[in-house]
Amino acid sequence: MYKIVSIPGDGIGPEVVAGAVSVLEQLSRKHGFEIVIEEHPFGGASWELHGEMLTQATLDACRNCDAVLLGAVGGPKWESLPHEHKPEAALLKIRKELQLFANLRPAKVYDALIDASSLKADVVRGTDFLVFRELTGGIYFGQPRGFDENRGWNTMVYERYEVERIARLAFETARKRKGKVVSIDKANVLEVSQLWRNVVHELHKEFADVELSDMYVDNAAMQIVRNPKQFDVIVTSNLFGDILSDIAGMITGSLGMLPSASIGTKYALYEPIHGSAPDIASQNKANPIATIASVAMMFEHSFKVPEIAREIEQAIESALASGCRTADIANTGDRVISTTEMTEAIVRHLGA
Ligand code: NAD
Ligand code: IPM
Ligand code: MN
Repeated sequence: MYKIVSIPGDGIGPEVVAGAVSVLEQLSRKHGFEIVIEEHPFGGASWELHGEMLTQATLDACRNCDAVLLGAVGGPKWESLPHEHKPEAALLKIRKELQLFANLRPAKVYDALIDASSLKADVVRGTDFLVFRELTGGIYFGQPRGFDENRGWNTMVYERYEVERIARLAFETARKRKGKVVSIDKANVLEVSQLWRNVVHELHKEFADVELSDMYVDNAAMQIVRNPKQFDVIVTSNLFGDILSDIAGMITGSLGMLPSASIGTKYALYEPIHGSAPDIASQNKANPIATIASVAMMFEHSFKVPEIAREIEQAIESALASGCRTADIANTGDRVISTTEMTEAIVRHLGA
């Protein structure tokens, strides 16, 4: 039995999470295991219900399950709230409270979508890299922070142990892949990046079989679109990882394609990398694949059943190969299908 807490959130969150839940239900029917899904309010949706973006009940539920499935939070309705009350602050709180220090964001190109990318087919074909984004430190959490009428300030700070634990995961994972880690920083300007670089290199002594190189973040942004195939594993800080993974999204054709796993030592949460997409919310247009592929990551990392992760990825691949396209991955002339139609196609390809 798997107990999953779902927190759909705002905008397209509920639409894409519904897609992922259909996939979970199909897997349960097909393989005969029991899946209990408990839904809890989160973000703006929770604010409207309870006057709080993240209630103690939702947080407790996230601690009392095998894995959390998150849609997205935020939207224009809550943008003018003070920072600490914004839905985004609640997302940061959940990550911090559950100590989800590593955010794994795989950028893998499906063959069927090579022409959906805004980059040339030859550039994107065969891309397969994994970003380890540090998720509970850096400028997102550093103190002091604030702004007044004339000044705004944030603090980018990393402790040795924070760098070490994310770099360790990156090295360990690279060993099971192509054995190459690129650490991305801004050590030519930022002292915090110098510490980052020093710690990564010290740790590398334990992983001499893994090839390590450093890259400045501005160059990395360029290299990812110039030649994405050069990367295997990327390890980087919270803010740099946020930005670089959205860039990686476009290699795969759309932000709606990229899943993620946010993991710590005790808990794990699975979420697409995209946001609540207010521009297409409630229109049954969103691409549910990022969220469905996040379920594949859940089976891989939390439930340790990689065969089922592969089954989900295969069903996505088959649906795409048979021509299923939501608007974000469609080319001119393609028949565009809805969120629910894409979900149904993937469920069908999963088989019974
Ligand atoms: P966004 O990721 O929501 O959208 C960017 C663009 O990508 C939009 O044009 C959107 O329509 C498109 N897009 C995103 N996901 C898609 C999908 N699944 N299918 C098709 N198209 C998709 O980023 P934004 O517009 O900068 O932010 C909107 C809100 O979401 C903000 O409040 C932001 O803070 C929040 N946000 C939340 C998360 C999260 O909850 N993890 C992540 C990013 C942004
Ligand atoms: C993401 C988002 C979040 C982040 C925001 C909404 C807090 O952009 O998950 O990538 O910056 O981490
Ligand atoms: Mn982001």
